[in-house]
Amino acid sequence: MSTQVTEGEAETEPETESTHQERRMAEKRERADMRERAESDLDDTEETVKIKVFRYDPEVEGKKDPRFDTFRVPFTKGMTVLDALIYARDHFDSSLTFRHSCRQAICGSDALFINGSQRLGCKTQMSELEWPVRIEPLPHAEVVKDLVVDMEHFYDQMEAVEPYFQTNDLPAADEEQRQSRENREKVKMSTRCIWCSACMSSCNIAAGDNEYLGPAAINKAYRFAMDKREGEDMKEHRLNIIEQEHGVWRCQTQFSCTEVCPKDIPLTEHIQELKREAVKSNLKFW
Ligand code: FES
Repeated sequence: MSTQVTEGEAETEPETESTHQERRMAEKRERADMRERAESDLDDTEETVKIKVFRYDPEVEGKKDPRFDTFRVPFTKGMTVLDALIYARDHFDSSLTFRHSCRQAICGSDALFINGSQRLGCKTQMSELEWPVRIEPLPHAEVVKDLVVDMEHFYDQMEAVEPYFQTNDLPAADEEQRQSRENREKVKMSTRCIWCSACMSSCNIAAGDNEYLGPAAINKAYRFAMDKREGEDMKEHRLNIIEQEHGVWRCQTQFSCTEVCPKDIPLTEHIQELKREAVKSNLKFW
């Protein structure tokens, strides 16, 4: 098949491996210049903070080996780790990759490993940390690029516990399906999960057993198993799911998930309570 080139239209040569590399190198030099210019623009009297950011890009020659890049960013009162990353990306290196959305601890997309602990970038104040601040992707997950990890496995585990309300006992069409105040209190904390996967990343058991449901999924199961509106049969069904070989019994009560949860959910407590519920439901003479 021939390609017609109209007058005035330049035929673009396909990029070869070497031109691709040259373009990449030119982009890299441009970024280095940009960074130098931005750094020289910093006011010397201004307080600055250094962040050491994990970098990795499997698709670009020369960036396949993980490394840390250091950025010096101006420190401002109330600055969060996410603010610092955004500054570094916008002023020094536009290829710096990380996830974020709401910037108010709701969407759960910017869980990171900050100074050796799982935290939300948008909720973590720079002033609370030891400087320089080391920022890495969540451990125990495959890194896609820089600070972005593959969340697929985490979502699969969440999906496995059927994370939605189910009941056979529906009210009449014009009635609300009301929940008692006490029952709402019971499940309140479990509903706060924002699917950030900080707990999963902190869990040693999940790191060693890829099939372990993990604290977030078990907490989600708790949220519905304890909701009385679903009824006893559905509770039984939910307990069967979390009782499986890679379910609640894997938890060794290490509390790491509870410690890192940015929404203060008592995850370990919920897992223990589900263990007790599972035992009770299996003791048929009870
Ligand atoms: Fe949404 Fe941090 S950006 S939780």
